[in-house]
Amino acid sequence: MILILDFGSQYSQLIARKIRGFGVYSQIVPFNTSLDEIRALAPLGIVLSGGPASVGEKGAPRVESGLLELGVPILGICYGMQLLVHLLGGDVAPQAHSEYGRATLSVAKGAEDDPIVAKLPDATTVWMSHNDAAVRLPRDWRTLASTGSCPQALVRHRKLPLIGFQFHPEVHHTAQGQRLLQNFVVGVCGAKRDWKMTDYIEQAVDDIRTRLDAAPRGARIVSAVSGGVDSTVMAVLLHRAAGDRFMPVFVDNGLLRADEPDAVVANFRDGLGMNIKKIDAAKHFVRKLKGVTEPEEKRRIIGREFVNIFFRDLRKNDFLAQGTLYPDVIESVNVKGPSATIKTHHNRVPEILQLMKEDRVIEPLRELFKDEVRELGLKLGISRDLLWRQPFPGPGLGVRILGEVTAARLEILKKADKIVLDEIKAAGLYQKIWQSFAVLLPVKAVGVMGDLRTYADVIALRAVNSVDGMTADFVHLPWDLLGRVSSRIINEVAGVNRVVYDISSKPPGTIEWE
Ligand code: XMP
Repeated sequence: MILILDFGSQYSQLIARKIRGFGVYSQIVPFNTSLDEIRALAPLGIVLSGGPASVGEKGAPRVESGLLELGVPILGICYGMQLLVHLLGGDVAPQAHSEYGRATLSVAKGAEDDPIVAKLPDATTVWMSHNDAAVRLPRDWRTLASTGSCPQALVRHRKLPLIGFQFHPEVHHTAQGQRLLQNFVVGVCGAKRDWKMTDYIEQAVDDIRTRLDAAPRGARIVSAVSGGVDSTVMAVLLHRAAGDRFMPVFVDNGLLRADEPDAVVANFRDGLGMNIKKIDAAKHFVRKLKGVTEPEEKRRIIGREFVNIFFRDLRKNDFLAQGTLYPDVIESVNVKGPSATIKTHHNRVPEILQLMKEDRVIEPLRELFKDEVRELGLKLGISRDLLWRQPFPGPGLGVRILGEVTAARLEILKKADKIVLDEIKAAGLYQKIWQSFAVLLPVKAVGVMGDLRTYADVIALRAVNSVDGMTADFVHLPWDLLGRVSSRIINEVAGVNRVVYDISSKPPGTIEWE
């Protein structure tokens, strides 16, 4: 196992995922994990991630002294490298110009034999994102590779297995990123590439059983399921681990796609053989959302009401399970270090945070990215059709109706959404696109239908491609498809007279509009 100490870079988890991708188990823990815990995990190697801090500043995150003496190989990436240099007596200083983006990494003459640069071309593209850099290396360190503006881009200790990368090997734009990580993990740490997704299943099932066994008698695992990829994969995993002690609950909050509620219940009961409980709360949610237009307020209400309703089924000793994935966590955590809150996630409302404090939350997928969850689902025997469903946000159509959510506006969006979905499927694009959906805007536009002036709603179409939901770009949908969707929506959905296409990427936009 390779352990990643997270100093708050939004890329930290990509390191774990890249390493798992070539068959070595890797896990991420906070930077301040104690030395004892680290020892207990017995990692073959440790990666210190990047992070937003400056090593010189007061309160900058550090590692426990002693980490460097464990004898375990350590790779510092960006902030992690600066920390190594700083701790061992070198100098790190702000650069006159921060460096963001591509740079060309050249291996130094005479350094080619070092296993960390094995099989690397003489020059290769790397991705930089830093303000500070090492300006003087500690004693016994040498530079193995540089870029035009960063002389110490890849450095290591002459005798000990301590290595630093100023660039980010984990991001897609670093051409030889996998090779470099593999050189560290396999070449330097000596890890074997024999980890498989089925190992993850066994491990997760074991963990769940252990927690359940340690709990008071009669404790169950209760979880809200939505019918989406994440909660379905989680449910199958929990069912496998806990059998009838797992209770899936489906809350129909009225913010789901047309026809979705019945389909979900049927699939759980008949397809997956689980005893699912359905709660019909559609009217309740619309009532609670009356008059609310502020996006974060909506998310809070949807989250809170959901919890209020769902918690009625949670008994004193029960566990709550959630299908939270890594990107959901990273975008909602707001501690010093890790990325700032962008949108409040429904899996992190205060009631759930409280249960987390009580150690009663089970999130078996929280280490994983979407593509890994799909792979896990396949291994669990879930159908491809279900696994390649597009993601759907927890707060549902509530964050796709800008402005007030009312029963009437929900009807409009559901009809428009169904048309988008039907047409995207008919064009054979559904599984090729990360997400495609309709958004109901809070503006009205003038139009003409027949000979009459209309003053009606506007629908925005959104279709994006993404690998992990963290970044995304709009899809170049064929014009004729866009035209068909537009005219069908305007003709078939009463109250809409205009359709526009969203051509923004993430960042700076986000995938959902709220
Ligand atoms: P954004 O809009 O933040 O979305 O770019 C990234 C991905 O996450 C989904 N999303 C959510 N999923 N609960 C979820 O389960 C949420 O509160 C939530 N908000 C956004 C979104 O659909 C996209 O796939």
